[in-house]
Formats: sequence, C-alpha cells, structure tokens
Amino acid sequence: TEQVVKLTVNGDKKRLKLDTRTTLLDMLREHADLKGTKKGCDHGQCGACTVLVNGVRINSCLSLAVMHQGDDIQTIEGLGQPDNLHPMQEAFVKHDGFQCGYCTPGQICSAVAVIDEIEKGIPSHVTGDLTADIALSREEIRERMSGNICRCAAYPNIVDAIQEVGE
Ligand code: FES
Repeated sequence: TEQVVKLTVNGDKKRLKLDTRTTLLDMLREHADLKGTKKGCDHGQCGACTVLVNGVRINSCLSLAVMHQGDDIQTIEGLGQPDNLHPMQEAFVKHDGFQCGYCTPGQICSAVAVIDEIEKGIPSHVTGDLTADIALSREEIRERMSGNICRCAAYPNIVDAIQEVGE
C-alpha cells in the first residue's frame, strides 16, 4: 500500500508517495536523497541513524515514515554544512571525535539532543536529580550517549566535544 507523506525535512516541505512500510531512515536516504543519515544495524542497536524529530532524537530505522505526517525532521545536513558548521560539529572536529566517521552524523544529532535535554533538566535513566555538577560529567554524558555505538571507540574524544559545547 502506498500513502502520501507530508513533512518538513531540514526546513524543506516534502510530499512523498511511499510504501507504508518505508522507514524514516529509508525515506531520508532513498527518497529525499539525504545520505548523511547512516544505516548501521537497521535494528535500533547502533544509533547511526539518529535524527531529530520535532527536536527529539530517535532511531530513524525503527520508525515508519507514515508515522511522521506534519513532523519537522532535522538531519545532519540540516544542522550544518561544511562552510557553516554547527557548534557541535566544530567541537567534534576540534577534539577528533571520530575516526572512520560512519557513526558521526548519528553521534552529532544525539549530542545536540543531549545538550538540549540537559538544558531542559530532563534526567537520564540513571540520574535522579540532575544537579549542575553531574549534568556534564563524563559518566552522565556517556550514559546519555550510550545508544550511539562507535566501532573505532572514539568515546573519550566524543565526550570531550560534548562537554565543551555544554559549558
Ligand atoms: Fe538504526 Fe542502527 S541503523 S540504530
């Protein structure tokens, strides 16, 4: 079955006729030609496909495009461009927060959401009270970023980048 999906991607209004089984990830990569969002596991395990939906991060491989009528989707391409990087992208470059780079778009989308969650005082799964001294601690950031796997294990540098943006 096909269905028309209307949504906004990186500020552009889209109207796409899609098989109802199309995931948000495949819609972005195959129908909106936005290849920045990566497919790692396609099963919600790796975080490579993380995008922002109305400002909240999700694994786009686990979500059907038809569930996102009217939503505002932001991908790595919408956060910044080579000549105009997002502060989180700049921090990842500065701190070498990647090696092969495959997980990086998802890491950065997640990291942007983490800063937003902390600013809004949203606790992580392990945090009871989000006091200022733990909000940007390495442990807290690692916990919040635990859904984003990096096979090159650039984790210490990723945490450095996020801490810098959060300060
Ligand atoms: Fe979606 Fe791995 S590709 S979590």
